[in-house]
Amino acid sequence: MAAETPAERIAALRAVIDRHAEAYYEKDAPEIPDAEYDRLLRELLDLESEHPELATPDSPTVRIGGDINTAFSPVVHRVRMMSLHNAFDIGELESWSERVERRLEGNAVPEYSVELKFDGLAISLRYENGVLVQGATRGDGAVGEDVTHNVRTIADIPQRLPAGAPAILEVRGEVFMRLSSFAALNARQKAEAEATGKEPKLYVNPRNTAAGSLRQIDAAITADRDLSFFCYQLGSVEGGPALATHTETLEWLGSLGFPINEHTVTCSTIGEVAERVEELNAARHDLDYEFDGVVVKVNDLRLQNELGADAKAPRWAIAYKLPPEERTTTLLDIEVSIGPSGQATPFAVLDPVFVGGVTVATATLHNQDQVAAKDVRPGDVVIVRRAGDVIPEVVGPVLSERDPASKPWTFPTDCPVCGEPLVRPEGVAATHCVNFHCPRQIRGRIEHWASRNAMDIEYLGEKNVDRFVDAGLLHDVADLYSIDFDVILGMDGFKEKSVANLRHAIEASKQKPLGNLLFGLRIPEIGQVNAQTLAAAFGTMDRIVEASVEEIAAVDGFGTVIAESVHAWFSQDGARDLVDRLARAGLTMEAAQVDESVEKTLDGQAVVVSGTLEGFTRDGAKDAIIARGGKSPGSVSKKTLALVVGGDPGASKVTKAEEAGVPVIDEAAFVRLLETGQLPEGLDS
Ligand code: IVH
Repeated sequence: MAAETPAERIAALRAVIDRHAEAYYEKDAPEIPDAEYDRLLRELLDLESEHPELATPDSPTVRIGGDINTAFSPVVHRVRMMSLHNAFDIGELESWSERVERRLEGNAVPEYSVELKFDGLAISLRYENGVLVQGATRGDGAVGEDVTHNVRTIADIPQRLPAGAPAILEVRGEVFMRLSSFAALNARQKAEAEATGKEPKLYVNPRNTAAGSLRQIDAAITADRDLSFFCYQLGSVEGGPALATHTETLEWLGSLGFPINEHTVTCSTIGEVAERVEELNAARHDLDYEFDGVVVKVNDLRLQNELGADAKAPRWAIAYKLPPEERTTTLLDIEVSIGPSGQATPFAVLDPVFVGGVTVATATLHNQDQVAAKDVRPGDVVIVRRAGDVIPEVVGPVLSERDPASKPWTFPTDCPVCGEPLVRPEGVAATHCVNFHCPRQIRGRIEHWASRNAMDIEYLGEKNVDRFVDAGLLHDVADLYSIDFDVILGMDGFKEKSVANLRHAIEASKQKPLGNLLFGLRIPEIGQVNAQTLAAAFGTMDRIVEASVEEIAAVDGFGTVIAESVHAWFSQDGARDLVDRLARAGLTMEAAQVDESVEKTLDGQAVVVSGTLEGFTRDGAKDAIIARGGKSPGSVSKKTLALVVGGDPGASKVTKAEEAGVPVIDEAAFVRLLETGQLPEGLDS
């Protein structure tokens, strides 16, 4: 088996865990021991914390609606952990304060406590008689997860309170990771990777790393992550002192040993608040932690009480969200990368800069016109922006800092990989390397050929393709079938076993159906579905090669654009020779006989299959659908008739189907669907 990517492993784990959770909780019939279930969940948690970009709200590691992650016990918050309403500009802040004043009619204009909105994970800490007894995440606000064992490892959080602490005290605040701790963690990851010769697994940003670290099953991992804490609110309290304002509350919490943030101030007008927001925004880069906004709270606790809350958030507070973060850095160079299909994309090489929670060292500049419009030049000081999860963007140059001798950047005339001229047709934004023999494109074509939905050649990952192309062993996909395995055996890192695996995988690909082969050729306009249609319509490769534009255009659903593309591809230099070599190597050049006696129960309908079925191979299921006049695309859309799920289906497909209202059926229902064209009762629309 080719090594699974983290995304594939995560999807597989989620599907298996969901299935077992259902068997355990809903059917009361567990299929695996608890320890095995915990092991799966732990593996998923670890992967999600290593790859926070792959975390999703529907993962079994995250509570869904009222469901709680089974790895952590549920904690019912005695006082709800509410959210905050947002203001995105000063006008919205002013409207909020006007609403507050209107509601408090007759009372004096309130004083505000203005503090940072820390970018981490909210936590509620419960102390009984001065001893920390529980730490819980916010969850859905009503019910959170018990992470006491992890919270105990955070040095900022007191385990015991001084004498005189109230009988019950719940303190709320934010767990976060300091930028210095985040940098140290990544430096450690790098050093460890270097020592073992592996690719370093770097954490993407402090916020996700902090959240992932707190939601570990193994507290030793949390302890190792150097998390910090600031408190900002009280939950339920029994036996505390009488407090009149939020500021007093914070001071009191400080006296009990809780870290309170030193940047909190009080303001008596909303104008002062606005000034403070500006000050804090300007100081955004001076602190050792991130904040993504400013929280403004009515300071008087009596007034807070009077204002109350709506379903989501208190009326006495608002979060002012700071604009997307922008920083300046030096544009070291503009380079052009060549994609697998030859597209030439300019990108900025930057002096690495930490912006919007990640270190940015490169940023795409999209195409020639974009570079010209921004007029960014190597050597310029440029503004880099990153908002939320959006890809980083070079906004433009700081002209006052430009070297007067600098010249506009010009797009290279030749491909940086093969040296042949680049081409940009008139009226088109993209520039391409059109050299069919460009090594980048050769690699791109071979990678595509080997990919799962094409010829599915395991063990031939991108790295191996690179090495074999560089070593001159591969020039096109047909070379795979006469590759010299002895040479590979002599290459670094290859052993008898790995070469045997590769040989076997290449050999097995010869049996792939004609539709896969056509898709593997990467003919423009010919995706998976069109490739299947083409194979089914002509039956043999010879007929496709010989077909005229008109004949191809006549295929149901094709038309001239697709037909011209196919025709042009087979007419280009070397194409027929390539097809001949593939045929001589023994690849499948004929579509599976369409059995005319098979009833066309699925005429024109799309059925997607995900996961392993017992009675069908992956291709067998597709063939069965196609033989009945249907299509079997790789992804679910609104038009899909049904999603068939076997063992370990792709979680994203299932979610997509549910969102699009596409029926999800099992193998037995699939067999009936093939026979009758009917979905199980109640699922048909
Ligand atoms: S007060 C009832 N203060 O923001 C009000 N929240 O969007 C409770 N946050 O879940 C929140 N810094 O994780 C408050 N200084 C601060 C905060 C803060 C960050 C987070 C907190 C909360 C979220 C609400």
